[in-house]
Order: sequence, then C-alpha cells, then structure tokens
Amino acid sequence: MGFPKDFLWGGATAANQCEGGIFEDGRGLANVDVCPAGADRNAVITGHMKMLEFDEAHVYPAAEAIDMYHHFREDIRLFAEMGFRVYRMSIAWTRIFPNGDEENPNEAGIHFYEEIFKECQKYQIMPLVTISHFDCPIGLIKKYGGWRNRKMIDFYLHLCEVLFTRYKEYVTHWLTFNEINMILHAPFMGAGIYFENGENEEQIKYQAAHHELIASALATKMAHEINPENKIGCMFAAGAAYPYSCKPKDVWEALLTDQENYFFVDVQARGYYPNYAIKRLHKKGVFPLMEDGDEEILKQYPVDFISFSYYNSRCIAAPGEETEIAEGNLFQSVKNPYLKFSEWGWPIDPLGLRITLNQVYDRYQKPLFIVENGLGALDKPNEDGFIEDDYRIEYLRDHIRAMRQAVEEDGVELMGYTSWAPIDLISAGTGEMRKRYGFIYVDKQEDGSGSLMRSKKKSFEWYKHVIETNGECL
Ligand code: BG6
Repeated sequence: MGFPKDFLWGGATAANQCEGGIFEDGRGLANVDVCPAGADRNAVITGHMKMLEFDEAHVYPAAEAIDMYHHFREDIRLFAEMGFRVYRMSIAWTRIFPNGDEENPNEAGIHFYEEIFKECQKYQIMPLVTISHFDCPIGLIKKYGGWRNRKMIDFYLHLCEVLFTRYKEYVTHWLTFNEINMILHAPFMGAGIYFENGENEEQIKYQAAHHELIASALATKMAHEINPENKIGCMFAAGAAYPYSCKPKDVWEALLTDQENYFFVDVQARGYYPNYAIKRLHKKGVFPLMEDGDEEILKQYPVDFISFSYYNSRCIAAPGEETEIAEGNLFQSVKNPYLKFSEWGWPIDPLGLRITLNQVYDRYQKPLFIVENGLGALDKPNEDGFIEDDYRIEYLRDHIRAMRQAVEEDGVELMGYTSWAPIDLISAGTGEMRKRYGFIYVDKQEDGSGSLMRSKKKSFEWYKHVIETNGECL
C-alpha cells in the first residue's frame, strides 16, 4: 500500500526563474526576461503595460536569477543527494532559437541542456521537460504579436522538433505548456500578448489559447512519431473552486469558475471543445477562428497524462456579495473563513489537494502528475546561518499526506510529485527573491546582493527521508 514503488519524487523549476545568464552563448531576449520586479509587474504580465525591452526605471530579476546557468552541476548534485527520481525543468526557448523564427538552432543552447540531461543521467534522475514555461521570444512578439498569431504554431513545432530529436536519448516525458490556463490571467507572461487600447481582450485570449491547444496537440503527434516512448502531458494551474456557501447561486458561480479552468484540459485530454465553452464563447462573441482540420487535430492527439500545480483551493461567491478577498496563485478569490493563509495571503488547504486530485481524476480518468506544490515564505537564518523551516515541512507534510490518501484510499492514479521549488528562485507572480520555496537556500537577496552560495535548510533532510521511505515517513 502507500505510493507505488516507481513513484516519481522530485522537484520543479522554470528556466527563467533560476537560470539567469540571459545573454550568454547567443541566447535571445524573452517575454519573461522583461517582466520587472515591483509595482509595474502586474501590469506587464497581464499585457496592460507594454515592455519589450529593458528600461532604466525597472529592475529585472530574471537577468541573473540564481545563476543556475553556472551552478547547475552543483544544484543537480544536491537534488541527487535528496534522492530525486525526477527533475522537472524547462527550456528557455531563446537559448535554442534566439529570435524564435530562425531555421537552424543555436548549438550552444542545445549543448547547455544536453549537459543538464547528462548530469541528470549520471544520478539516474529522469528529466520532465516543460517545453514552454511562460516563455516566448521577444522576436516573435515584435514580429508576429505572440500567440495571438497562428504562425506561432509553426515556430513552436520547429522548437519541438529540435528538442524531440536532439534530446531523444535523454528525455521521454514532456509538458507542452506550463499552466496553460494562465493565458486568461497573465496573457503577456503566458503567451507574449499585450493589448492595444480598445481591443477585445477576451477574444484575443481565447484565440491565442486555441493556437496553443492546436500546437499542443500537434506536438503530441510529433513526439509520438519521433519516439514512441515519449509521453506528453498538459499542465494547468489547479485548485478546486468551493462555493462560499451552500446558496445555489454560490454553487453555480463556483462551477463556472471550475469550468473556466478545466476548459483547457477538457480540450487537451478529451480532444474537443466542451459544449459549455462552445455556447458561452459564442454568446460573448469570442469563439476563436478555427481552420478546417482543427477539430480533427484536437480529437486525434490528446495528451497521455495530466499534470497540474496546486497551491491552494479557491472560494467563490455570487456577484454582489459582501466578501473579503484572498490572494492565490495569480488568481484572487473570496477569503475562505475556515483556512489559514501563507505570508503572501494564499490559502493553505491540504484537503483541497485531495479534493482536486479526485475531481481531476473523476473527470478524465488519465494518469495524473502533481508538478508543483509548495510554500513561499520568508526564511530567516538563525545565528548559525541555518534555516529551520518547520513551517515548510508542515505545509508539505500535510499536502503529501492528503496526496497519499488520494492514492491509497481513493484510487487516484498518480505518477509523481515534484515540489515547487527544490531550490530558492525568483517568484513568477511578484518577481521577488525573498519569497522562498526551496529545500536549498540561495544567498541572493532582494536587492540583488549575495554570494549565490547554496546551503541546505532543515527541510532538505526531511524531504530526503520522505523520498527514502517512499512517502511512508512524513
Ligand atoms: C506557478 C508557476 O504559477 O506558481 C511558477 O508555474 C511559479 O512559475 C509558482 O513560480 C509559484 O508562484 P509564485 O508567484 O509564488 O512564484
């Protein structure tokens, strides 16, 4: 009983939040590089403030991040010491294609990831590769407008072809887009889209989403053709939506919120636009333009497995009700009076993970993979410089316990769990460094200072023991 013997324990990162080295070895500029820290970040990531290059007035934390570009051997060695069986990481698109539309890839970029995969191989760590984790070349945004343009499908598939062929001997598990549903909430970060005044934003977002959905289906087709061993997953930001009360209007509103979120996975896993989306998008006049053959593509190439991030559940009330607001993974919702909250105001709800696992599995009946879950917190070293992050251990313990119950008692088919993030890195939502998630502390401070030295927190040994005992000892 408990977790299956081959359960994939590990951790997850994203290129732009850890690599740095944005001008090394011919890499080009990406949307994620120009998202500044500070007050304007939200306007930039939501596409309401145009930022396609650096300016003097802002600070851009992705430029150095935690410099994993030069520390990856040390970092992967530490992951191996914790016993990782899987490392989820992403490719910086502009290391492979600096502008996005070149014919030939940048060999230095190919070499960099090859070195990472070799390092993983050395420790028998399976890479799980996100092809685009909020990553879009600035070149493609300037020339084509990002994912609002259907041409993006070809550029993305060209990237996929290079990755699937060049890394065939190292990688068999891929995710097409990180948190694909974020396109609705952070369209610049999710899809390289910024808006001009007066544009129909919703229409653009659903059109871009359609392009990503087609790209994802065609990538699945290609991956299977290039290597029949390849397994392709979709990835969405999950978190069950609870009705604020049992008032039917609250229940209805929560259902609508869940449907908006599940829309992407409904298409990627079942292979067609669900009726509720067809009706509502047509009614609003934002149903995307489709080409002949699109429906067939979606139908023919569904994903092999479903992955998601889970940080919190959400609580939803009918419009017009007096409620307090809670933060969360890029979405706000109503404050749930029964939960505790993190220092960033995100609800903490381990049972919500079990609920979410059950809901997703009931809906799709495909293998699941939790590819992000963790606690962003302010870590303060004690007088010996050691971080005693019992709060993080408690958060993860409770969530892993809930996940174990979903597997053991509810029969949810779960492939693995990668915590976000095994090492401190830059926050996607805020651009902060002080919002730390890692088992490994990085001496990099909010003002950019620090030696970049890595050290183990208390949670390091704890997670190591969790993996050693296959989740028995929490
Ligand atoms: C997810 C992203 O939204 O949540 C990650 O896939 C991100 O990139 C993580 O870092 C945690 O959010 P934040 O805003 O605390 O970094």
